[in-house]
Amino acid sequence: MALLEDLKWRYATKKMNGQAVPEEKLNYILEAARLAPSTSGLQPYKILVVTDKQKLEDIKKIANNQSQVVDGSHLLIWVAWDHFDEAKAEEILLRTGKERGMPAENSIAYKNMLVSKYGPQGKQWQADRMAKQAYISFGLALAAAAEQKVDATPMEGFDNEALDKYLGLNGWKSVVMMPIGYRDEEGDWLVKHKKFRLPMDEFVEVIK
Ligand SMILES: Cc1cc2nc3c(=O)[nH]c(=O)nc-3n(C[C@H](O)[C@H](O)[C@H](O)COP(=O)(O)O)c2cc1C
Repeated sequence: MALLEDLKWRYATKKMNGQAVPEEKLNYILEAARLAPSTSGLQPYKILVVTDKQKLEDIKKIANNQSQVVDGSHLLIWVAWDHFDEAKAEEILLRTGKERGMPAENSIAYKNMLVSKYGPQGKQWQADRMAKQAYISFGLALAAAAEQKVDATPMEGFDNEALDKYLGLNGWKSVVMMPIGYRDEEGDWLVKHKKFRLPMDEFVEVIK
């Protein structure tokens, strides 16, 4: 029940009031994001946390001048591998196997199987698949923020290529971002509007 109430409370905040999110709440949100499942446990993404005011101003310009980027206290940016990175995959599979006391050959064999499946699909397909994993982590972070009564705006409204260039990414691509902070009750036009979702009988179809 509590989760559903939190999800009803949250909304894509358009105007934040500049109040800072405390460190422990930030860490809670990041921990929820870290615990997300991912395909083959690859975790082919990471989160960049930006707080520097000048950098936020620069990123705001890349993000269609959306004010939440600078009015939130932290900007979380999910970046994902820009292709199926065999070396990174091998490393994480070996580390996972080691932690579980499994032989390295098993991890290498599994990685080789992944290479045979991902390889023929091409780099764009691979990048898309890596980005999909990032969205799962993103969704959990959004829910965790709501649980902490921290406002967050899910954001795809930015120029990915320009942001990648600005951040100097190499081997990674930006996927989605989330400023966190607190809603400006007076200044946010959306705060008073009802949440709209399709009713359950349209959203769910039971196949008989
Ligand atoms: C992946 C994704 C990208 C979004 N990008 C933006 C964005 O760039 N700017 C914005 O103000 N809202 C953005 N939204 C917010 C959606 O418009 C919003 O989540 C949707 O209308 C549902 O409303 P709610 O989040 O307030 O419940 C995005 C949402 C998602 C999930």
